[in-house]
Amino acid sequence: MKSIPVTSPLLPPLEEFLPYLEEIWHSRILTNGGSMHKALERELCDYLGVEHIALFANGTLGLVTALQALRISGEVITTPYSFVATAHSLLWNGIKPVFVDIDPLTMNLDPAKIEAAITPQTTAIMPVHCYGTPCNVEEIARIADIYNLRVIYDAAHAFAVRDEGGSVLRHGDLSVLSFHATKVFNTFEGGAIICPDAKTRERINNLKNFGFVNETTVVAPGINGKMSEINAAFGLLQLKHIDQALERRRAIAALYRSLLDPVVGVRCPTPFTKGVANNAYFPVLIDDDYPETRDVLFQRLRAQGVMVRRYFYPLISEFPMYRGLPSAASANLPVASDVAQRVLCLPIYPDLSLADVRLICELVIAASEV
Ligand SMILES: Cc1ncc(COP(=O)(O)O)c(C=O)c1O
Repeated sequence: MKSIPVTSPLLPPLEEFLPYLEEIWHSRILTNGGSMHKALERELCDYLGVEHIALFANGTLGLVTALQALRISGEVITTPYSFVATAHSLLWNGIKPVFVDIDPLTMNLDPAKIEAAITPQTTAIMPVHCYGTPCNVEEIARIADIYNLRVIYDAAHAFAVRDEGGSVLRHGDLSVLSFHATKVFNTFEGGAIICPDAKTRERINNLKNFGFVNETTVVAPGINGKMSEINAAFGLLQLKHIDQALERRRAIAALYRSLLDPVVGVRCPTPFTKGVANNAYFPVLIDDDYPETRDVLFQRLRAQGVMVRRYFYPLISEFPMYRGLPSAASANLPVASDVAQRVLCLPIYPDLSLADVRLICELVIAASEV
């Protein structure tokens, strides 16, 4: 039986990568902002339509450093419906996460519920553009403005996403990307912070290099968050293939949608139509009128070789280091708790064939026809 993974990395032909390696060997510069790193920064700014970027070894170090750079402390409002690194970055900074429920349509932080969670200790909001679907950025900005809060977007899923005004990464004080192997754009491991100005970028660059500002001066207990030349080189190569990869994702998502939309009990995500989506994931919600529960369908598809994932289940707020927080109570998070019980992410990646998409849909439809 063949196995279909939930994702598979965008990996250009190996021979295309060899000239980059030769250049690195020739230069003998392996890290610390070499020519590959500089070139990737330039090309990413062009591609994404942003002005200032700081590359990182991974997205988690980007989140931890973004909080440091803005000196965030006290309490931060965030979503329980995300990958655990979102909230972990707060704990690594000694910040208390305050979980707020999500919107059932976008699965992002529900702005209508943010104000009730603000206390005198609140200093920032950390929303996530979950699955690459933009948050309600206007409403979040309005609330942040009234209460003088900073906004750091976890934009790990939002590479290349654009709304009507341009890159979705321009919103908030900072946006943090992940270039992990499973992401739309990968550098094996990697990440980046999108910054509003050169000065903030410089501060972030110092923080990711142990806090050094020059050879002999250290101004903060910075971390080693630098991206290596080899990762940056791979990013440069990825950029040559990214448009084609995004096009493939679009075709796959469209086929899933056309085959699954009519299926009773299977809810496809509301398509993002006010800009350019990246189709980073294809989540579906399994409703009560589907003949199987989400978990029975999950087990059946896995037994049939389709490696679906339950992103995001359990909620972050259910993990031991968070569940004692008052905001982690499931009564405070009814929508997120319900969605986490219903969600199933179907395979989506550039090399997935449309025949396999049809096969996966047939397996889902099979139960609904029993
Ligand atoms: C929403 C979200 N935030 C943060 C991260 C962490 O990124 P990284 O794996 O690059 O550290 C990920 C994925 O890994 C993620 O999905």
